[in-house]
Amino acid sequence: MKATIRLDKMLGNLGYGTRSVIKQWIKQGAVTVNGETVKDHGKQIRPNDDTVTLNGETIRYRDTVYVLMHKPAGVVSATEDYRDRTVIDLLDEDITVLSPFPVGRLDKDTEGLLLITNDGKLSHELLSPKKHVPKTYRALVAGAVGEPDAEAFGRGVELDDGYVTMPAHLRVLASVDSGAGGTMQADEPDDAAEMSAVLDFAPSGPEAPPLSWIELTIHEGKFHQVKRMFEAVGKKVLYLRRVAMGPLKLDPALAPGEWRELTEDEVDNLRNYRKDGQE
Ligand code: URA
Repeated sequence: MKATIRLDKMLGNLGYGTRSVIKQWIKQGAVTVNGETVKDHGKQIRPNDDTVTLNGETIRYRDTVYVLMHKPAGVVSATEDYRDRTVIDLLDEDITVLSPFPVGRLDKDTEGLLLITNDGKLSHELLSPKKHVPKTYRALVAGAVGEPDAEAFGRGVELDDGYVTMPAHLRVLASVDSGAGGTMQADEPDDAAEMSAVLDFAPSGPEAPPLSWIELTIHEGKFHQVKRMFEAVGKKVLYLRRVAMGPLKLDPALAPGEWRELTEDEVDNLRNYRKDGQE
């Protein structure tokens, strides 16, 4: 953040009105700086140190914003869309006024961790193919996922367009052997509970396929990558959720559609992470 900013620009950037409306308010004495009424709309403000009020309300200035969203299914990862609701539509006005955008995309039907920010530099570096920032997904898959799939993903699989993926790490967390009537196998009770919560996405009945609840970490972000990787081994993703991106984890306190701003530590971790170029 710059050390100083003009008073009218500060209020304008925060969405308090047009420059002319703001000038008018300042002239009318609606704005104080450090307890003194200020009538000079061009006054330089130190946003980190000065206390500014407008009609008695203290104004918190920032020019960057970092949001951790649990993206729900049914909304698109875009800033605007002529047909669908976007992730930006779920945010409050004091955030959207800062023009944030999603860092990368999740499919409309994918849930989970989405970082939304207006920090173009950070976004660029997190998405840079050179950085190989890991992204971890959990998925309900139709088919018995096993060691041959983990080995294939570990080597890299060929997608429908001929692209061979970078090595990825696949773990099976839980499985149901034969459709709705089968028994669930899981090492951890939490994994069994997570899988149970998404079984509605699976077809039921006598022809129901075996099901697997898996975790996959990839280091790139090709279009529909997780779904296409499973297609490459003859299986179908029925439900997909992103649970981590680099050092950022999906917050279990956030239900789909909920969001919160990142803590300072989380922002620092992200910045240091891409700086170090960690794998
Ligand atoms: N891979 C997919 O197939 N879809 C997503 O939304 C993200 C990764």
